Amino acid sequence: MKLLITGATGLIGKNLINHAKRRKISIHFLTTRKEECINSESLKGFFWNPEKDEIDDSCFEGVDTLIHLAGANISKPWTTKNKEVILDSRLNSTRLLKKTLDQLNIKMKSICCAGAIGIYPNSIDDIHEENSPLSQENFLQKVTYAWEQESEALSKNSINLSIFRIGLVLAKEGGLLSKLTPPVKLFLGTAFASGKQWQSWIHIDDLSRLFFRAVDDGWEGTFNAVAPNPISQTNLIKEIGRTLKRPVFLPNIPAFFLQLFMGERSLLILGSHRVSAKLILSKGFKFQFPYLQPALNDILKKKNDNLTKKASWQ
Ligand SMILES: NC(=O)c1ccc[n+]([C@@H]2O[C@H](COP(=O)([O-])OP(=O)(O)OC[C@H]3O[C@@H](n4cnc5c(N)ncnc54)[C@H](OP(=O)(O)O)[C@@H]3O)[C@@H](O)[C@H]2O)c1
Repeated sequence: MKLLITGATGLIGKNLINHAKRRKISIHFLTTRKEECINSESLKGFFWNPEKDEIDDSCFEGVDTLIHLAGANISKPWTTKNKEVILDSRLNSTRLLKKTLDQLNIKMKSICCAGAIGIYPNSIDDIHEENSPLSQENFLQKVTYAWEQESEALSKNSINLSIFRIGLVLAKEGGLLSKLTPPVKLFLGTAFASGKQWQSWIHIDDLSRLFFRAVDDGWEGTFNAVAPNPISQTNLIKEIGRTLKRPVFLPNIPAFFLQLFMGERSLLILGSHRVSAKLILSKGFKFQFPYLQPALNDILKKKNDNLTKKASWQ
């Protein structure tokens, strides 16, 4: 397999590269930053600018598999400009990949695209399977829906196309835990609103393994990329506290307070998605981290180990 990754310099992309390196897979990647275009035997960067329709199409040389992750980060303030960038970065990049594959008349063996569980309606009660109803009421739902539609158009450019609706990615290097753990460490950990919001999470290593499983076995279709045991926000914060040996005792922060400071973006914290992993389990995928506590132990304790190691040789 020769792999092309977009968004390779991000949280998930870096982890995927580590997994690919372990498997001795040779990687090309597309980046919007020229300074990231490194060139080694097994890892080569190529420049693109989807906004201006620019791409170094030699990135496709010898490549049979594409994992498409690129998209502007959604955690920046949702100003009109940033919202435009969040949407356009996903649509333009996907369109440019399609246009280039069409022009070069290349048919890939496998294409995997990132999507997100934000495509499902907000609900405390519903369990979302891949064929559950979708809605387009809020900004996240509109972005994820339009993004999936665009990704589906890539089906003509590959023998297999899989789209992953990714849950909250748990990782050492960033993402949700990097925002939730600092207050817990300072004994300020607390949930928001009722705290009953469902958090459908996945350990980053399981996510990378899932992408490779889809590619290896030629999965076709749309899949929820979440662990089988989602948890409420209150329990997530408590479990982080338990792992870090910090009590969580403060009352929840009311929703209106968050809405006042974050506006529409408070959706990221107040939203609830209980998402099912049934389909990927039925395809035989075995999670290394199906339960939260071992996943947190792995991520948060490893961080401590690294810090200890650093301290010992300094
Ligand atoms: N992390 C999560 O919890 C999570 C959950 C659900 C879905 N996802 C989705 O999975 C994908 C990867 O997530 P991540 O956490 O790894 O994101 P990330 O750390 O923000 O990385 C995204 C990558 O996309 C590229 N990018 C940024 N702006 C771009 C633009 N305007 N045009 C083209 N490329 C651009 C960047 O690569 P260069 O700077 O090298 O171009 C960046 O490294 C994203 O699309 C995200 O929405 C993530």
